[in-house]
Amino acid sequence: MVGVAFVQMEPELLDPETNYCKAERLTREAVEKGASLVVLPELFDTGYVFNDAGELEAVAQPIPSGRTTEFLEWLAEDTGSFIVAGTAERADGGFYNSAVVVGPEGYVGKYRKTHLFNREKLFFKPGDTGFRVFDLGFARVGVMICFDWFFPESARTLALMGADVIAHPANLVMPYAPRAMPVRALENRVYTVTADRVGEERGVVFTGMSQIAAPTSEVLVQAGRTGETVGVAEVDVSLSRNKKLNERNDVFMDRRREFYLL
Ligand code: ACM
Repeated sequence: MVGVAFVQMEPELLDPETNYCKAERLTREAVEKGASLVVLPELFDTGYVFNDAGELEAVAQPIPSGRTTEFLEWLAEDTGSFIVAGTAERADGGFYNSAVVVGPEGYVGKYRKTHLFNREKLFFKPGDTGFRVFDLGFARVGVMICFDWFFPESARTLALMGADVIAHPANLVMPYAPRAMPVRALENRVYTVTADRVGEERGVVFTGMSQIAAPTSEVLVQAGRTGETVGVAEVDVSLSRNKKLNERNDVFMDRRREFYLL
């Protein structure tokens, strides 16, 4: 069994230094409560509601050579934990809505959001990494970002790639994901860790309700709609690696791919 956590926080728009302080305090709290893997929200360092690309230009950074990855590497080393965090990435003459994975030994990898939501399409390029699963030793961790949840293919792909845990940094604005993610966990028999943000930015209200769901669909811990907080739960990879529902049903082996449309 290993501890995993969400950090639910309220980022300050366009103020990475303040957000590093918040993320540090909450990550330390999660590690003290037993987490070996801590998931921070989408765009935890920059905020979400950009007016124009110039605002994004001022805060987005390269990965892994930028300030946010350096901060996360330092925090992971100092706390002896792994961290998955959403951040604005500057690359290829533009920007990606990305997630960074770091651990006690440093940078592990990144993922660029596949399904951009609404106004994100004005500022960010669609992700080109494809879905990624990182073997952290104690568990295989797949990453998807916020609106990726709306496409069941995202979680399915990560589960088929071998994920035990889906780390899901989010800035949710619709109310559905807290109901949907336990189903994603159930149908793929994985754990899901949704780290959402709270608060309001330029009239946009975020959903909160960060949660950790088990392969049984049980919600192991859930935050409220408001308030910065952490939630920690234990995951058992022997459960996520067993896709058998009963003696005769294995949810991966029983798929009838010849009848499915892509
Ligand atoms: C979202 O994808 N941030 C709604």
